[in-house]
Amino acid sequence: MENALKNQTILITGITDQNSLALRIAEECKRQGATLICTGLGKSKFHSALSENAQNYLERTFNDFTNTVKSVLGADTKTYVMDVSIQDSINEFASTLASEGIELNGFLHSIAMDKTIRAGKVKPIMEVTREEFMDAMNISAYSMLAVIQSLYAAKRLAKQASLVALSYLGAEKIVSHPYKNIGIAKAALERLIKELAIELGKSDGIQVNGVRFSPYTASKAGGAIQGLEEAVKQCEELAPLGNANASDLAYEVVYLFRKNNRITGEIRHVDGGYHIRG
Ligand SMILES: NC(=O)c1ccc[n+]([C@@H]2O[C@H](COP(=O)([O-])OP(=O)(O)OC[C@H]3O[C@@H](n4cnc5c(N)ncnc54)[C@H](O)[C@@H]3O)[C@@H](O)[C@H]2O)c1
Repeated sequence: MENALKNQTILITGITDQNSLALRIAEECKRQGATLICTGLGKSKFHSALSENAQNYLERTFNDFTNTVKSVLGADTKTYVMDVSIQDSINEFASTLASEGIELNGFLHSIAMDKTIRAGKVKPIMEVTREEFMDAMNISAYSMLAVIQSLYAAKRLAKQASLVALSYLGAEKIVSHPYKNIGIAKAALERLIKELAIELGKSDGIQVNGVRFSPYTASKAGGAIQGLEEAVKQCEELAPLGNANASDLAYEVVYLFRKNNRITGEIRHVDGGYHIRG
């Protein structure tokens, strides 16, 4: 594919550092001619009630995000704060796009968070609290809907736009390592993709798809998951084609971002075929 995304503006969420899957996807979108808009977690006026420590953490996170984006994707790449746990932060981002006259042809949801995954351990489901369950659901699943609703209300989604979210086989199956609470949120995310595909496809020709990727330990989110290193080895051995890498994922997302694909409501696998194993 050459210039597959020419004249397309794509929103990329979920870049934290050099190892974020979203960064590799963004690089490939740019190589294919897209203009990128990147959002990251950071301090904003909506965080004023947080402790000084928490605000400092958000400031550092945003600096790391901005430095990564500018150094890898180019100094002219636009960066904005968007904390998907705060509706006002999402709405402010959508209004900023409106005031800058930016309309989106694509949106990558590459966001996940689960407080039951801590220091290399995953809580048994029988110990998960209501708050932990809701938090994972809020950030890892509902955020896809919240961002799309807000962009749609601000008329920032072009007709025939393409929306893609990252998921994992653990949404459907009990995998070889504990995935537990976040697996339930990923299941909700995948079901949400199908509902959005029906409504937005009928109304605006918008495509909505998900991609399940191989286990990947290099990123912050992946590195935190208990037993993921062993799972990487096991999947490498059992997958017909071995594990997929971040570039394989990026090529698939670019493919889904192309206009007029007539592919929607799909949960695709980029995992070397591991998912066909019993
Ligand atoms: N690493 C894996 O093994 C793997 C496999 C399949 C799918 N995925 C999915 O890929 C996506 C990206 O994960 P990654 O592995 O690149 O890790 P990552 O840690 O680089 O990305 C996770 C992102 O979520 C963002 N995030 C968390 N809370 C947020 C909030 N309130 N507002 C805005 N952003 C917030 C983080 O800032 C971070 O950028 C996730 O959806 C993850 O579940 C990961």
